[in-house]
Amino acid sequence: MILYINACIRTESRTNRLAKALLDKLGAYEEVRLTDMEIQPLNEERLDYRAAQIEKQNYNDRIFKLSKQFAQADLIIISAPYWDGQFPAILKTYIENIYSIGIVTKYDEYGKPQGLCKAKKLYYVTTAGGRYNPRFSFDYIDYLVKNMFGIQETELIYAEYLDIEDNDAKKILSQAISDIDERFRDRGSIL
Ligand SMILES: Cc1cc2nc3c(=O)[nH]c(=O)nc-3n(C[C@H](O)[C@H](O)[C@H](O)COP(=O)(O)O)c2cc1C
Repeated sequence: MILYINACIRTESRTNRLAKALLDKLGAYEEVRLTDMEIQPLNEERLDYRAAQIEKQNYNDRIFKLSKQFAQADLIIISAPYWDGQFPAILKTYIENIYSIGIVTKYDEYGKPQGLCKAKKLYYVTTAGGRYNPRFSFDYIDYLVKNMFGIQETELIYAEYLDIEDNDAKKILSQAISDIDERFRDRGSIL
């Protein structure tokens, strides 16, 4: 199953458009559109509740639905605009919600995480108004999924300088979409 985690906020999101160009190459997918969901940041009540279910190994509880979907995906695509040097808060909220010990990761006796996710690869798609710096967005996701979730490969796809006066944002986006075509032209396997 290909999982598309859509953390774009605007209806006319250019990041979503770029991600859709990638998804066109990949085939059928399940979309989780974060703005349509009722996910909340973890508070003490939800944290305690989740810990209690993990303690009881009650992984059928609905609190684990998103974690299981994430862990079972074969390929994951995250799209998120570049906001405040990072990404919208709803993506971090999603990460808090899926990061369930026993589903996406477990810790060995030395406290080292052992990823439990099935996906071999994750794409991160973003667009930026100015220059894109991956440090607190893609680099963070890359660190998290490789070290905690066991997803070995990541790939960044982005378009930048979309909001600079006199720049033709449509042209920049079209170029980024053509670059995706180019990237996939010579690939034997899409994954
Ligand atoms: C709340 C907010 C924060 C933003 N922060 C940045 C930023 O830190 N750096 C930057 O280059 N652009 C920033 N931008 C511009 C967006 O990255 C740019 O418009 C992007 O293409 C939006 O993607 P979208 O069309 O998918 O919504 C910000 C835009 C918004 C609305």
